[in-house]
Amino acid sequence: MTRYLFDNTGIQTENRFQALEACYDPFSRRQLARTGLAPGWRCLEVGGGGGSLGDWLGERVGPGGEVTITDLDPRWATRDRPPHVRVLRHDIVTEPLPLPADGYDLVHARLVLLHLPERLDVLDRLVAALRPGGLLVLEEFDCTWQPVLTAPDAASAALYERVQAALMAQLEKRGADGAWGRNVYGAMVRAGLTDLTATTYAESWTGGGTGVGLHQANARQVADGLRAEGLTDSELARYHALLANPAFTVNSLPLISVTGRRRAAGEAAAR
Ligand SMILES: C[S@@+](CC[C@H](N)C(=O)[O-])C[C@H]1O[C@@H](n2cnc3c(N)ncnc32)[C@H](O)[C@@H]1O
Repeated sequence: MTRYLFDNTGIQTENRFQALEACYDPFSRRQLARTGLAPGWRCLEVGGGGGSLGDWLGERVGPGGEVTITDLDPRWATRDRPPHVRVLRHDIVTEPLPLPADGYDLVHARLVLLHLPERLDVLDRLVAALRPGGLLVLEEFDCTWQPVLTAPDAASAALYERVQAALMAQLEKRGADGAWGRNVYGAMVRAGLTDLTATTYAESWTGGGTGVGLHQANARQVADGLRAEGLTDSELARYHALLANPAFTVNSLPLISVTGRRRAAGEAAAR
């Protein structure tokens, strides 16, 4: 059994990927473009999910470049692709990485290491997969900050917070780190990267909108686990009604995007 809680066999996966792509792809594309991404680059997209960002990388690097999209279960990344974009079933924790001769120009992972208890080892592997001077972009949630902005009543806001806490408890039982987003920058410094920058993206999500579709998909997929955390069917029904109610608005999960560069051979470590 995979340790990943929201595994891609769930029928809710399509809705999860749609929400992630709609809410976060424009931001992620801006962050990736800021690396200087150019035709001919060799890119690795780890845990690529539905593959939308890997496909966008493929457009940017063109047929003279290469994009490898990996996922533990790539069943949702099925669209037709040009020959320079390939999709691999691959476990980033246990399997050797496919590498171009001198390493990747760019490695990107969004919302993958958060789920992996072995995240620091995986980070080291991603750094090692870069060519000297290559860039790593990690984008992760800080799940500890998701304030309710307005709710029909105080009980609804409290229920939302209870369900989110129960979702976090489920994730943490599988080894996820809900605060990983705020720890990524420091971990990348300790992994030896340089020239780090971090940018955080968040927005308001209103009931019935695209963003809350992420919470709907997650809570539906692990409903049994939420019941085991003490939530009743009636509370779960009220939670889903709240997510469909335009009188409810919550802050999105903030996505912290960190870019760092692998030092070139002989380049001194920062003091
Ligand atoms: C929350 S989804 C994020 C998908 C995509 N990166 C995005 O942001 O839209 C996490 C993805 O990581 C994949 N994943 C989980 N564990 C993995 C592992 N050990 N190796 C590779 N992919 C993994 C899952 O299958 C899933 O597609």
